[in-house]
Amino acid sequence: MTTVGARRGFASDNAATVHPRVLDAIAAANAGHAFGYGHDPYTHEVERRLAAALGAPDASVFFVFNGSGANVLSLRTALRPWEAAIVSANAHLHTDEVGAPEAVAGVKLLIAETEDGRVTLDGVRRMVERPNDEHAVKPGLLSLTQATELGTLYSLDELRALSELAHAHGLRVHVDGARFANAAAALGVALPELVAAAGIDLLSFGGTKNGLMLGEAVVVFDESLVPGMLHLRKQTLQLSSKMRYIAAQFDALLSDDLWLANASHANAMALRLCDAVSGVPGVMVTRAPAANAVFAILPRAARERLQQEFDFYEWDDVTGEVRWMCSWDTTEGDIDEFAAAVRTAVAGA
Ligand SMILES: Cc1ncc(COP(=O)(O)O)c(C=O)c1O
Repeated sequence: MTTVGARRGFASDNAATVHPRVLDAIAAANAGHAFGYGHDPYTHEVERRLAAALGAPDASVFFVFNGSGANVLSLRTALRPWEAAIVSANAHLHTDEVGAPEAVAGVKLLIAETEDGRVTLDGVRRMVERPNDEHAVKPGLLSLTQATELGTLYSLDELRALSELAHAHGLRVHVDGARFANAAAALGVALPELVAAAGIDLLSFGGTKNGLMLGEAVVVFDESLVPGMLHLRKQTLQLSSKMRYIAAQFDALLSDDLWLANASHANAMALRLCDAVSGVPGVMVTRAPAANAVFAILPRAARERLQQEFDFYEWDDVTGEVRWMCSWDTTEGDIDEFAAAVRTAVAGA
């Protein structure tokens, strides 16, 4: 059997390992036969527990394979063919899903004014208050990413203001919560509080970036959106036949608040990394880490030298900004070793 190398890095929270309790849960689910496609009592129980953990026992939970699928399925569910989704300029939906919203969901994205990864209230207001006639797509959904792709956060007040504005104009609110757990941990709020502040109608709730092997959930809070979801999930190619193994991972994530421990740890490691490299001559931290990402600019030679040893992405090839992502399994030792390597690399650049 081929073995995987022991290289550590900061490329993505997807690069991290699977939490051992998640693997244990998969193994524990690996007994006997169960109906496929989520039609087994165990999956139903875990769906119920996730809804309860989000403070909405009546919400409907649909496990899916990945975050892009969760987002696109959400758009397909919430929008009619003449409606559009308002997103930020940095939204994963816009920048990293190969046009799947357009190609798969047939949904046009409207890019709102964006600051630090967040849509602005004025920017959204300009879009929803614009007179709308039959020649223009009609905004039908506001999609917010929390935590954002730039590692920033919407405050609870910002979420409230945005969702009130959206709802007042008849839009639904979707949250891309690939890092929803990191956001709750960083804001120090319970999941239900975050859900309520954002007035969420549909949530893409992340698991993969928080210690799962694979699995996300679309959580539908607005029950009028539920009919058709089962069919749409299948049609969007997001229905797992061996669903119990996705459910098992969420079972582990929900047990003893593993989701919170994992997310808090990842966030704490990002802060540690930020502290360790801030003030190092030649390194400019460009965004204070609100969740589990650190962004910085450093000389190209230093970056290239570092990348020989550690994986991470160049985020902006014009400015040379890089992204260092921490995860549930990032250790203090990883940070200290990397920070020392950063110091050496910039000193030699
Ligand atoms: C904010 C955000 N949403 C959605 C996704 C999509 O996840 P996946 O790669 O599982 O499709 C990502 C992945 O990087 C992400 O960062």
